[in-house]
Amino acid sequence: MNPIIVEIARRGGVPFVDFMALALYHDTAGYYTRPRRGAGPAGGEGDFMTAPTASPLLATTLACMLRRLALDLGTGLTFVELAAGEGRLIEALVAALGDDRRDVIRQICAVETATWAGERLARRVPDAVVARKLQGLARPRGPVVLFASELYDAVPCRRVVVAAVDGRLELREFWVVPAPGRRLVFETRPVTDREPARYFAQHGVSLAVGQVAELRLGVRAMHGATLAWCGRDGVALVLDYGYPARRLYDPRGRAGGSLVGYRRHRLVENVLLAPGRCDITAHVNFDDLMAGAGDAGWDRGEVRPLGSFLALHGAFDLLPAAVASGGVLKPDEWATFAAARRLLLPSGMGSDLKVLAQGRGAAWSSFCEMQTPPPIEA
Ligand SMILES: C[S@@+](CC[C@H](N)C(=O)[O-])C[C@H]1O[C@@H](n2cnc3c(N)ncnc32)[C@H](O)[C@@H]1O
Repeated sequence: MNPIIVEIARRGGVPFVDFMALALYHDTAGYYTRPRRGAGPAGGEGDFMTAPTASPLLATTLACMLRRLALDLGTGLTFVELAAGEGRLIEALVAALGDDRRDVIRQICAVETATWAGERLARRVPDAVVARKLQGLARPRGPVVLFASELYDAVPCRRVVVAAVDGRLELREFWVVPAPGRRLVFETRPVTDREPARYFAQHGVSLAVGQVAELRLGVRAMHGATLAWCGRDGVALVLDYGYPARRLYDPRGRAGGSLVGYRRHRLVENVLLAPGRCDITAHVNFDDLMAGAGDAGWDRGEVRPLGSFLALHGAFDLLPAAVASGGVLKPDEWATFAAARRLLLPSGMGSDLKVLAQGRGAAWSSFCEMQTPPPIEA
């Protein structure tokens, strides 16, 4: 019997946010945390692709960016990856830096909740410092580059709906409750605290009747604390699916919310069917991350689609030379190019996945100069 279903039955039902925490992070049965022997969740053999698993282009572009930053600042950087998974990005980054690695990056730190994934990462990059929590790492000295790919969309969220009850509007919370046949089903109950209404008011959002919305109350503080931990000189790059509040909660767009599951590269509509066996994700409200940066004294930054972020940072120069010259691609070059296109083209990750760049101090000034596109020659 699935231990997550047993636990929910024992509690007589739980708010959706607690269900998502159990489904993803239950010690022995959670989707991310349960011990794994074969393929992990992200990648071709797993359930979904992420930017680091789709192509090394992200890591090679980052490597060029870090080289320039270290050169500009005249010192090596601390590279910190949150939600580092099995270490695919760090492994490719180290490979791309080659012999320059120690001049560019003084220390690599990785934070990963799933023990099995952290262990694989440590085997891939033996000199990376790996911890399950950021607080488990010594505070960095000198400039920091913080990187996180799909961390915040995996943070458990509350799920609410606006209902018309007896002629008045009521905000109701989704609960997950046991049903006959060892199944789980949704049920809504009145929201019993003021936080969701306050959250939407703060973001200037008014939900329509029948509109479903997901919200993460803790993300602003979590992100602010992370940036404060980084110090006063750094750049943070956060890749995630999401929008600013006005777009995320626009009833003309996502009236049903953005919650979905993924299994074997297919969408799972009912995330209650096999808890712990499929990924569960909901879009991020980038305004929370911007506010968190402001709280920490960092620049709130800007959000760009992944494709244009990579283009701005020279990714096209890193494609096989035959692409630019119009020559014939060899089979391995073609594979590299095809994978890179997934990150660049506006028909998938290139536009759906966003990069939020934020920073503080000299590292941020240097980074912003790099982002200025060169003048177009006549
Ligand atoms: C969608 S996967 C992304 C993995 C990797 N970053 C990538 O892009 O391929 C989300 C990862 O975040 C980890 N995670 C979730 N919450 C975390 C937290 N608070 N701290 C560190 N890791 C976390 C999960 O265990 C999982 O490995």
